[in-house]
Amino acid sequence: MSNLFESVTLRDSRIPNRLAVSPMCQYSCDADGLPTEWHRVHYGSRAVGGAGIVMTEATAVEPRGRITPADLGIWSDDHAAALEPIASFVREQGAVPGIQLAHAGHKASKRRPWEGNTPLSPEEGGWEVLSPSSDAYPPFSGDRPAITKATEDDLQAVVEAYRTAAARSLEAGFEIAEVHAAHGYLLHEFLSPVTNRRDDAYGGSFENRTRLVREVTAAVREVWPDDKPVFVRISATDWLDDRASWTLEDSVRLADDLADLGVDLVDVSSGGIHPEQDVAGGPNFQVPFAEAIRDGADVAVGAVGGITEPEQAEALVRNGRADLVLVGREFLRNPYFGLEAAERFTEDPADRWPVQYRRSRRR
Ligand SMILES: Cc1cc2nc3c(=O)[nH]c(=O)nc-3n(C[C@H](O)[C@H](O)[C@H](O)COP(=O)(O)O)c2cc1C
Repeated sequence: MSNLFESVTLRDSRIPNRLAVSPMCQYSCDADGLPTEWHRVHYGSRAVGGAGIVMTEATAVEPRGRITPADLGIWSDDHAAALEPIASFVREQGAVPGIQLAHAGHKASKRRPWEGNTPLSPEEGGWEVLSPSSDAYPPFSGDRPAITKATEDDLQAVVEAYRTAAARSLEAGFEIAEVHAAHGYLLHEFLSPVTNRRDDAYGGSFENRTRLVREVTAAVREVWPDDKPVFVRISATDWLDDRASWTLEDSVRLADDLADLGVDLVDVSSGGIHPEQDVAGGPNFQVPFAEAIRDGADVAVGAVGGITEPEQAEALVRNGRADLVLVGREFLRNPYFGLEAAERFTEDPADRWPVQYRRSRRR
């Protein structure tokens, strides 16, 4: 009996197995955040490959929330219409389509990783970026874009952008909405005292620093139907023990608050707020955080990071360390990771292969 291939029902969504494609930016839009053939093939291949959930990359809720000009977006009806065939194909393959809703905050307006990841100046098409404070940022190499300290009106506009983006995601046929509150992007910048130096209702105390994430989550939950799940991805720790920063203890507390707001699963990542972070990587490196949140808060968790073997994923679910296993880079190396895991852990692997590929099974 496989635990990895046991379905799980969140709200009324039946997820056929516990393996999810972790959100991964493709930086492959030609313009204006619209998906290209690359996105169709990329997401389609992983759905064919047996994942239970195919989660999109960080998808910007407004143009200035893109990391690079080539990021995916969902800020207009045209975006929803262009994403619909992708969600629909993922569903036809038996996987559940999810969308990660994102705002890059001060990490926006950059070149793509393979172009150096450096900030874009206004002459190069760069834009002003939004963040909790204008004076608390780790140095970038190159000319940094102008940083705008968000006013309370700006923040209400961000909440509304998330709400509208979620409504459009639903129109596009996605079944899971994931709020991206990790990796040093806008929502995490508010959570962490490393980057949040505000003294208004959105800064200072834990309650104030978590306010924006809670408001965004509540807005998404309001428009996301009661029968469909909402996830939130967090960075469980800033990995900055030498200073006031976001900690695992904070994450457990936030996870409980999110559960009260109707969040079904916390997707547990870490880091990304500051270049001096001291990350202890390796296989399963973030699993202890997921486990601590699962034990300490009343919410399901997803584990991610350094999970590359089917046995590893199976053991995480079997031992009750996580409800869902998100796999990133291994799914890039091998889109058929899900089918290959099913060969090892299920009694009916042939039925899981697309009919078109069945003759290729190794026996
Ligand atoms: C190419 C690439 C792009 C990524 N983009 C995102 C993203 O858009 N949103 C996100 O939350 N994490 C992103 N991540 C992080 C992954 O989702 C995942 O958490 C990380 O790679 C660790 O998992 P792994 O060891 O299985 O790769 C990205 C990772 C990679 C390799």
